[in-house]
Amino acid sequence: MSKAHEKFNDYQRGIGTELSPNWRDLAKADSKLVPEVLTRESSPNLGTGKIPPQNYTSYQYHRQEVEKVWKRTWQVACREEEIPNVGDHFVYEVAGLSFLVVRSAEKQFKAYWNVCLHRGRRLVDKSGCDAKSFRCGYHAWTWNIDGKLSYYPGEWDFPDVEPEKYNLREVLIDTWGGFIFINPDIKAGPLANHLGSLTKHFENWPLDKRFTLWHVQKTINANWKVALEAFLESYHLLQTHPQALSSVAEHGTQYDIYDEGEAHFSRSITPTGIPSKHAKNGSQIGAIADVWALLNALRADQAVELPPEITDRASISEWRRNVMKEMTGADYSTLSDAEMLDSVQYFLFPNFCPWYGEGLPLTYVFRPNADSPETSYFDVWMLIRSPDNGTPPLAAKTMKIGPDDHFEPIIGAMGLIFDQDDMNMPFVQMGMKTWPGDPVGPTWGRYQESRIRHLHQLLALALKRP
Ligand code: FES
Ligand SMILES: [Fe+2]
Repeated sequence: MSKAHEKFNDYQRGIGTELSPNWRDLAKADSKLVPEVLTRESSPNLGTGKIPPQNYTSYQYHRQEVEKVWKRTWQVACREEEIPNVGDHFVYEVAGLSFLVVRSAEKQFKAYWNVCLHRGRRLVDKSGCDAKSFRCGYHAWTWNIDGKLSYYPGEWDFPDVEPEKYNLREVLIDTWGGFIFINPDIKAGPLANHLGSLTKHFENWPLDKRFTLWHVQKTINANWKVALEAFLESYHLLQTHPQALSSVAEHGTQYDIYDEGEAHFSRSITPTGIPSKHAKNGSQIGAIADVWALLNALRADQAVELPPEITDRASISEWRRNVMKEMTGADYSTLSDAEMLDSVQYFLFPNFCPWYGEGLPLTYVFRPNADSPETSYFDVWMLIRSPDNGTPPLAAKTMKIGPDDHFEPIIGAMGLIFDQDDMNMPFVQMGMKTWPGDPVGPTWGRYQESRIRHLHQLLALALKRP
């Protein structure tokens, strides 16, 4: 055991400083009461096991994931607001599988295997609006949006076809937080079991009361886990996002892991508005100035100069409460500084990262975009709280970008962060393919990268399913 490790004689968090405390110490000094659900820590010892690099690269391993994860697990297909009217439908594709999600009645959704039951053509090629039925592009077999076969030419020639047995093949569907989840395994337990107490964590933070300000879907030239793992730790800020160190205390991040029956999720809380202890010449006022610049960039109507009374987390949080109240009409007066500023990101197995708080109201989803371990989709939503009165604005349309495209030109300053993250991904994939073999595989920090270790333990469990 190394000296550095002996100093922290368990798997718990590292140590903050007076200028740059850990999140749990900041939470104690918050100007309001921080919700208990955020302050309660849960960091079990997950050991120091490793995985073979082939788990990112092998087609055989990928096929196991398809059979045991993507065909067997609850997963986010889209937001409800993406199909707001009856007949609106969304084609959800994952790992070479295709599903058709449709609003079949005002308050009812259905999801089907997107496969024509005549000779197997993909039934619907792309998402669309206001369909009364779905007609296959090959021989015109047609199904109503409720899945019933309504027309097949030359009926006389199909004595074996009993139309009532030719409903589109349904998969499980349910919603939470404004997201539509599907599960191709019709014998699976309900979504509620899969979410477990995650719903309690978000009880006071309803994601269904939000609308999509922007949604970007980027194709990544790397395995979906490589992409996901870039967002499961803040340890990489030091090298990947050096500009953020002046105002984001990555070292003070709290990491929590939850396993409850069928529900498996994790969380990180990264303090914002104080400098990292790794920042050169970090200062409290410098951190606040940086946060101010970022928040102002989101609100072009505000003066860019930092008002003299805004000097710390408490005062910038108070300013933000007032600004948000103006924008949405909602009351933010009891929300803690942590909820107004910090990055509180959850991860629900296998691929869904909803965020809590106004710090960064994002959501991520990662998935293989084809029957290949080498390519994936990274979806990012910016979800803004809907005004308390009146109809929420329409969801912004998804912007799809390719592996060489950048976020910054389309979403502004925050895009730089994603661009920096994305730069690493193809190179990690390359490294996994050419891993020198000894030691046995990539290694992870015991605390700061515990959520990645957790992901791989969950995957290993899923792959052992009969
Ligand atoms: S394959 Fe769809 S109608 Fe023939
Ligand atoms: Fe990052």
